Amino acid sequence: MDNLIDKTIIYVKETLSGAEVGHDWSHIERVYRMALRINQVERGDQLVVSLAALLHDIADSKFYDGDENVGPQRAKTFMESNGVSPEVITKVVHIIENISYKNEYGEVTYHSKELDIVQDADRLDAIGAIGIARTFNYGGFKNRPLYDPAIKPNLNHTKESYKATDAPTINHFFEKLLLLKDKMNTPTARKIAEQRHQFMEQYLEQFFDEWNAER
Ligand code: NI
Repeated sequence: MDNLIDKTIIYVKETLSGAEVGHDWSHIERVYRMALRINQVERGDQLVVSLAALLHDIADSKFYDGDENVGPQRAKTFMESNGVSPEVITKVVHIIENISYKNEYGEVTYHSKELDIVQDADRLDAIGAIGIARTFNYGGFKNRPLYDPAIKPNLNHTKESYKATDAPTINHFFEKLLLLKDKMNTPTARKIAEQRHQFMEQYLEQFFDEWNAER
């Protein structure tokens, strides 16, 4: 298993070299470590958790014209050529297909403890100090304004409008990041999310005070 994990790490690092920093190797490494940490308490299948965490962003659909099949297919091909058992492959592929926030919009049909764990680890990386950094980085990549008081957050996104939005970066906190703590699947992740959530709230308070020259 260690050998397989090492090979997977090398494969993912290579594949993601030059990836957008929100979904680069360092994101994968953080999610992998956090998934293992959560799994120590929640006790899912460690091989499935590890492979799913390492392979979950192997091809971000945002960069493949929205094609959500590229990632699962690549992960499957990699695992097949490295002798992973068909049962494990099926579980990992299902996790990769269902982990994305976009799939929140009424499309989740698959459930497993390992999906819960890896999804929590991925969501935790979207909040707190790292979440803030990733959000502004992505907004910069899209050249979005930081904030525009005239453009209110859209709390009724559909999968399509969520993908297509070009709203100011601050809106993303209200449309997604501040909602994540209540979406954690496991008690272990919920506890970690609580602290990161408080940090983001403090950050936003400071942000708006500075924006209005009040601090
Ligand atoms: Ni991810």
